[in-house]
Amino acid sequence: MSFNIGELLGKGGFGNVFKATDGDGNSYAIKYFAQNQPMNADLLENVRKRFIKEVRIQKNINHPNIVPVIESWEGDKPSYLMPIATCSLADEIETNKPDVASRYLEIISDIALALNYLHSLQICHRDLKPQNILRFETDEGGPVYRISDFGLISLKESNLSNLTATGMRKGSDAYTAPEITQKLSTACAQTDVYSLACILHDIVDDGVRVPCGVIESGTSFGDIFAVATRADPSKRFPTAKSFVDAVADVAFSVSTPSVPAFEDLANSFGTNSEDNPEFWESVLSAVTGGDRAVKNFIFSKISGETIKNAIGVSGEAGQQIYGEYCDWVASRRDFPFEYCDVLCERILDCFESVDFERRFQGCYALLVLGTSHNRWHVEHAFMNSLGPEIDEAFAQRAAIEFRVLDKMICPQIRHLERSIDASIKHFHPAVSKAISEICV
Ligand SMILES: Nc1ncnc2c1ncn2[C@@H]1O[C@H](COP(=O)(O)OP(=O)(O)O)[C@@H](O)[C@H]1O
Ligand SMILES: [Mg+2]
Repeated sequence: MSFNIGELLGKGGFGNVFKATDGDGNSYAIKYFAQNQPMNADLLENVRKRFIKEVRIQKNINHPNIVPVIESWEGDKPSYLMPIATCSLADEIETNKPDVASRYLEIISDIALALNYLHSLQICHRDLKPQNILRFETDEGGPVYRISDFGLISLKESNLSNLTATGMRKGSDAYTAPEITQKLSTACAQTDVYSLACILHDIVDDGVRVPCGVIESGTSFGDIFAVATRADPSKRFPTAKSFVDAVADVAFSVSTPSVPAFEDLANSFGTNSEDNPEFWESVLSAVTGGDRAVKNFIFSKISGETIKNAIGVSGEAGQQIYGEYCDWVASRRDFPFEYCDVLCERILDCFESVDFERRFQGCYALLVLGTSHNRWHVEHAFMNSLGPEIDEAFAQRAAIEFRVLDKMICPQIRHLERSIDASIKHFHPAVSKAISEICV
């Protein structure tokens, strides 16, 4: 294929990106290796080889939130072709920050999905910043963000010592984790988590950052920023997903209207009050009082640890709180997409500590949550929660509970079949049998 090379779209340390148009008038972006900073011949050759290697890696990574390499050319002046982006996240933050701020959760979730995938391959990006996050438009019309510029990507075992000396990190310091300023090869998943926190900070806070420092922020995400940017990488969130889950949790809590009469109660979560069984009786009576707003408020303040603690400290009251929580999850259709995962994990986390009746309530909440929000992750979690390897006795009990619910479950089961291609035979045999008899 031949291309007409058009305007310069962007420029970085080692590349120039141009618009390219093919014979049919389709637009792409093409990135050429370029020496945009002074260096000696040896180093240049080293960096050129590296560029080629990075392209080969990127070419073999297939993920909806990572910019694909369509075609590449090696040689003296290596280059590669990719789809053309609408703009970078950096451009958007500069020109329309309020709009970006209104979509922060979707944006960081997109980036986190890409990071989780990379990290699962033990690949670390190491140069995450808004200039390297590109915006594309989906067929459905909404934006999707994709990570690009794998110029500093590391496979864990790479030997990078001679590249560290090139000053490649210049200009990126506002997003760079402290551990890699000395030694690039010490990068890990938490190195990218640090940068992701800096990106979120750019979006939701106007404050300045100390390069490589711990972020201090007066926003509701203050604690999250502080944890995500700790000097010791092992003390940060372990994964990009756990970081986004924490953000989604706070976001949901902040957007839920407070009920002043219950503020004292809600503020006691996470304090010593949790050790007192009577405290849990008060929580239980608050959430069973029948008032929707109170339920929303209390449950928006409850963390996974809190629920586990309730069950541990107060036994039956804790079990009931868990049951109410599951019912509450199953009763709402308006959770933010990203928050569904947080709810799902919270429900799953207690499975081993609750009785069969509540555990089934948890399974059912996952089914309703997943199918009503079309959240694949939750739908899979539901399937696994009743998979072939579950406890025989629980499977028998679940079969009975399904028969009690009867035909009510069938639209959701059909939805599962469509959305994740789930088949009834993937459940534990006792469950499969019950469901197939109910939904003939
Ligand atoms: N696919 C693309 N579509 C549109 N613009 C792009 C694309 N890829 C890169 N750019 C622009 O070019 C800039 C530099 O590209 P990048 O790949 O980050 O190169 P470098 O390695 O030199 O930093 C980006 O910040 C972005 O503004
Ligand atoms: Mg770049």
